[in-house]
Amino acid sequence: MPRPGTSHDPQPPLGRRGSGLLPCIAISTLVLSILVGLAILIFWLTVRPAPLEFSVDDASIHGFNLTAKELNATFNLTLRADNPNHRIRVYYDSVNITVWYSDQMVAFSEVAPFHQSHRNVRTIDVDPVAKSVPLVASVVDNLKHDRSAGAVELEVRVRARIRFKVGLAKTKHYTLRAYCSPVVVHFSSSARFERNYCDVDI
Ligand SMILES: *[C@@H]1O[C@H](CO)[C@@H](O)[C@H](O)[C@H]1NC(C)=O
Ligand SMILES: *[C@@H]1O[C@H](CO)[C@@H](O)[C@H](O)[C@H]1NC(C)=O
Ligand SMILES: *[C@@H]1O[C@H](CO)[C@@H](O)[C@H](O)[C@H]1NC(C)=O
Ligand SMILES: *[C@@H]1O[C@H](CO)[C@@H](O)[C@H](O)[C@H]1NC(C)=O
Repeated sequence: MPRPGTSHDPQPPLGRRGSGLLPCIAISTLVLSILVGLAILIFWLTVRPAPLEFSVDDASIHGFNLTAKELNATFNLTLRADNPNHRIRVYYDSVNITVWYSDQMVAFSEVAPFHQSHRNVRTIDVDPVAKSVPLVASVVDNLKHDRSAGAVELEVRVRARIRFKVGLAKTKHYTLRAYCSPVVVHFSSSARFERNYCDVDI
C-alpha cells in the first residue's frame, strides 16, 4: 500500500499481499486494543468511581492538663467517612487516627476494621489520648496561649489500608491518607464546632 511521503522509496509497492500473515496480525491487534479500550470505557461508565470523602464533624478536648514539659488530654473526635459510589464497596482493614499540634503528633488511636457498602456514610467516634506527651518549651508556650485564648488549632490525620470491591472482584491494598486541618477545637463546650473537610489521598 503506497503511503504519503514514500514516493522516493526505492522498494516498489508489493503487487501481491504475500502470505497475508503480517497485516492479519496488525488488524487483530488493532481490533483487540479497540475492544479492550471499549471494555475499560464501559466499566468506567457503569462503575463511575468517585473519590472517598472524610470530614471531622465534631471535636472536643477533655482532661486537659499542661505542665512545663508535658501534656495530658483526651481528644473526642467524630469523623465521617463517606463512600459516594453506587457500585464500589470499601474494606477498611486498618485505620489509624492521629492528632497533631504544631507539626508534632500528640495523640494516636486505632479504629476497629470495618467495611462500607455503596452510598454509605459512616460515623467514627474516636478518643485519642495524649498521655504524658513531652513537648518542647516553645510548643508549651503556644499551647498555653491557645488555652487562655479559648481554642486550639489541631490537625487530624487518618491513615488506612483499604481495598475496593466491585461486583465480586476485590482490588489489592491501597493506603488512604486524609489530612484534616485546621480543626479548631474550643475548650468551652458551649462553642459550636465547624465541620472540617479533609484532603484525601489514595
Ligand atoms: C494536672 O496534673 C498535675 C500533675 O499530675 C496535678 O497536680 C494537677 O492537679 C492537675 N491539674 C488539673 C487541672 O487536673
Ligand atoms: C471522651 O472520651 C473519653 C474516653 O473515651 C470518654 O470517657 C468521655 O466520656 C468522652 N467525652 C465525651 C464528651 O464524649
Ligand atoms: C499525665 O498523666 C500521668 C498518668 O496518667 C501522670 O503521671 C502525669 O503526671 C500527668 N501529667 C500531667 C501534666 O497532668
Ligand atoms: C496502625 O497502627 C498499627 C500499630 O502501630 C500498625 O501496626 C498498623 O500498620 C497501622 N496501620 C496503618 C494503616 O498505618
